[in-house]
Amino acid sequence: MKNLIHLFLIAFALYACGGGSTSSETDSTTAQPETTASEPESVPAVAELSISGDDAMKFNKTELKVKEGQTVKLTLSHSGKLPKAAMGHNFVLLVQGANMADFGMAAMGAVDTDYIPADQADNIIAHTKLVGGGESDTIEFEAPAKGTYDFLCSFPGHSALMKGKFIVE
Ligand code: CO
Repeated sequence: MKNLIHLFLIAFALYACGGGSTSSETDSTTAQPETTASEPESVPAVAELSISGDDAMKFNKTELKVKEGQTVKLTLSHSGKLPKAAMGHNFVLLVQGANMADFGMAAMGAVDTDYIPADQADNIIAHTKLVGGGESDTIEFEAPAKGTYDFLCSFPGHSALMKGKFIVE
């Protein structure tokens, strides 16, 4: 009889022990997932950009971004088939404050220079040559000061659709 009680106590002790192990398994101090952000990224010296125009009189981008101090290497390509006489495209980056409408008017008369008007030189930061279907042109220039600039295609009538913002951060 005494042995039986003894056995019961042991059994109870084992049960209590097993039942008591429900704590501290859902510990919330697990390691944080590693974040890949917040490392100071080094700015590459050269920003390579590409933009293309098509036969529907459109650029494939309306915004381009670079960092201040970068050398910009920009490639304009023409993804269409039409010749430049009919559907020519260029990329012209204007200084801040330049009047796009005035520039467009001046460009229209500059047939001999592929619609880059000589009297608007002061308003141009950089420009490519005029390209037709399948052609491309790459230019390099220093990014201007931080700010937002207009770019456009100066082929007559195109800047209504072919324009965008060039942002220097
Ligand atoms: Co164009």
